[in-house]
Amino acid sequence: MTQPALKALPVEETSLDPTDWEGFRRSARRALDRMIDDLAGVEDRPVWQPMPDDLRARFREDLPREGSDLDDLLEDVRADIAPYVTGNRHPLFMGWVHGAGTPVGMIAEMIAAGLNANCGGRDHVGIEVEKQVTRWAAELFDFPQTASGVFVTGTSMANFIGLLIARTQTLSTESRTMGQRDVRLTVYAAEGAHGCVAQALEMAGLGSDALRMIPTDETGGLIPDALDAAIMRDWDDGFRPMMIVGTAGSVNTGSIDPLNAVADIAQRHGLWYHIDGAFGALAALSPELKPMLAGIERADSIAFDFHKWAHVPYDAGFLLVKDAEAHRRSFSDANAYLQRAPRGIAAGEIWPCDLGPDLSRGSRAFKTWFAFRALGADRIGDSIARCCRVAAHLEGGLRANPLFEVVAPANLNIVCWRLAKGHDDALNAEIVMDLHESGLAVPSMTTIEGRPAIRAAIVNHRTTETHIDGFLVDMDRIAQERLASG
Ligand SMILES: Cc1ncc(COP(=O)(O)O)c(C=O)c1O
Repeated sequence: MTQPALKALPVEETSLDPTDWEGFRRSARRALDRMIDDLAGVEDRPVWQPMPDDLRARFREDLPREGSDLDDLLEDVRADIAPYVTGNRHPLFMGWVHGAGTPVGMIAEMIAAGLNANCGGRDHVGIEVEKQVTRWAAELFDFPQTASGVFVTGTSMANFIGLLIARTQTLSTESRTMGQRDVRLTVYAAEGAHGCVAQALEMAGLGSDALRMIPTDETGGLIPDALDAAIMRDWDDGFRPMMIVGTAGSVNTGSIDPLNAVADIAQRHGLWYHIDGAFGALAALSPELKPMLAGIERADSIAFDFHKWAHVPYDAGFLLVKDAEAHRRSFSDANAYLQRAPRGIAAGEIWPCDLGPDLSRGSRAFKTWFAFRALGADRIGDSIARCCRVAAHLEGGLRANPLFEVVAPANLNIVCWRLAKGHDDALNAEIVMDLHESGLAVPSMTTIEGRPAIRAAIVNHRTTETHIDGFLVDMDRIAQERLASG
């Protein structure tokens, strides 16, 4: 198709830069000041609040053909966006497992956006930064410094990539072109493993039926003998056991699999040993907590998120792989336009695009690097240990109130409870929704042993025992009101 006749517009109308840089600087400073005020005052506002219907309707307006004045736009952000975000920066946001971010992380994001590097490959500092963070991760988990790593969106994606590497290792690189043919691969994980593990099998075409859920003991960790027996059964039945996914910090209760015993089994059967350490793996930053992760160094790969317990701004998931060559073999591509040159910007041996499916990618490594340089690994580790102390404090407060029963004690940073015996289970969810809508606190719901439970994951470096004391009083009042209204 031939190109249509194109209008010859002046560059001021086609460049996307400001025409008045000084005016832009003033607006940009205002934006930064506002965000600093917003962060400093996070505790003074509701944890979460629902969006009014008329505001929701405004997000259905058509594509803007004309630009807006930057100051007007910032005003819209102040009024329409900032008050209605998730709330995970607030100390009493305890739902799911959300990182809280940091002010230095915000600066890092701004710088990264300004630099706007494409970190898929080529020879530039962004690639060196990612390699340095990979070496830091290797140091943290006692992996060799030759280990390979790649930033991805989150642990769901890191688990998926780990599974693809395990498959290539198990079946040889030819499986990249031929597929897995009729080999019936199987994967093993504890019953409490995150749902993204089953989803990874679905996305890889193995089917989630190939995931064997291994029973757990009273600590929530998988039972090694049951794992061994399941693998033996599959060998006998003509399956090809491929991979064990150990969990270091389960999403429901914070439990940790017996990582050393699982490593022994993986070794004995020659299986790939992957660890889902989405939030829990970074407990390794705390010297007090690190012993709980003993055995993690024996894994072939570890998936975790810097955006959770290290509070790097979303998103900053990571996959660390012990055998760098196994990692590269699973993804590197002979795409002609990605050919390497002996010198110039196209130089370099291994680019991040050789280590995963992403080609265009931003600088998640930079904001991680910046946060660790600014805060120091020890301070982040201390904030993680504090979360676990605060979780134990929450458990103590719950045990002191006969209205509630603790159903999963503080394991790392997660506590689960429900209304004590004799009360309607359905009321637990009502209490949680009342708490959300009051703006006082955001715990979330889960299911423990088939029954609903209220769950708090203390991830936030801002949460203190004092916040929890206030929460216990508020929750007791809301629960009493619910019970009184039936
Ligand atoms: C144990 C575990 N695995 C995987 C995930 C998924 O991680 P992401 O949300 O970064 O994809 C989570 C999320 O909380 C998790 O707790």
